Amino acid sequence: MKKKVLLMGASGSGKTSMRSLIFSNNPASLTARLGATIDVEQNHVRFLGDLILNLWDCGGQDAFMDSYLTTQRSTIFQHVGVLIYVFDVETNEMHKDLEYYRDCLDGLRQFSPDAAVFLLVHKMDLAHDKDATFERKKKELHEHSEKLGQPTPSVTVFGTSIYDESLYRAWSSIVHTLIPNAAVLSKHLTIFAEACSATEVILFERTTFLVIATSSSPTSPSPGAASQELEATRYERTSELIKAFKHSCSRVREEFHSLEMELPEFSAVLDEMTKNTYVLIIVHDPTIETAALKLNIRMARRKFE
Ligand code: GTP
Repeated sequence: MKKKVLLMGASGSGKTSMRSLIFSNNPASLTARLGATIDVEQNHVRFLGDLILNLWDCGGQDAFMDSYLTTQRSTIFQHVGVLIYVFDVETNEMHKDLEYYRDCLDGLRQFSPDAAVFLLVHKMDLAHDKDATFERKKKELHEHSEKLGQPTPSVTVFGTSIYDESLYRAWSSIVHTLIPNAAVLSKHLTIFAEACSATEVILFERTTFLVIATSSSPTSPSPGAASQELEATRYERTSELIKAFKHSCSRVREEFHSLEMELPEFSAVLDEMTKNTYVLIIVHDPTIETAALKLNIRMARRKFE
């Protein structure tokens, strides 16, 4: 099952940069060297089992945009699962961006009327008052989308930057909408978490380290965790940290395999679950050995393949 994701937006808005961080494990500092994308570049990532994410990074220069909307129209806009439209928070050409956004929505309506729409207000690190800027931009984009016949509930807006975890939050939630059996997975992870006496279990995709699914939020965490407030940004921060760590490993020509942490407050094991996924188990019960968690992962593997 192939899911096509269109990544569109003005030239220089940051599309290839985010693709290279998420799909190629490059650090943010290298994105300044990226050239403009010529026409469309594609990435394929196999998520669970037979779910393949097919990302189309569409170069944003006017000549390419005009061609997507005319001669290449059906090729670009057919079979789309998700449209991600990127707006540079500092753009001087919002008017033009919004016109192209409108034209892309028209293309989608014609060829993929069921596609989900995500808008990214990108380069948020450059904004002075981040919260106020984001709220203003979000309102503007929702109002504009409404005028184009795209009601607010059908358009999700995220503020993103390649310099923090916000990019992972946005992309994890985009990918989540493409996973057909997300609810079932989450149920299995909850059962697995209970079997391990874990506070939480999280499943990541192997290449991107995007969150695929989590066990349902712990309602009564294990003893010792009772006073622990779980941070709302913990998933995307883990994705970002592990990606950075994987990059460090590759610089010393080592491959990342697994991770174990035993601290007084909690322990954690991150290990391969299936060919395309990693699982992270967080335990707050000091009597539970990480070796037992690793054994549990090994035993559960077949269930998750
Ligand atoms: P085209 O390929 O022409 O469509 O452009 P693009 O949208 O792919 O832009 P690209 O990813 O090449 O990024 C342009 C510049 O923006 C690069 O110099 C990046 O380093 C910079 N950039 C990307 N994301 C961010 C971000 O979150 N914050 C800041 N400050 N700069 C960013």
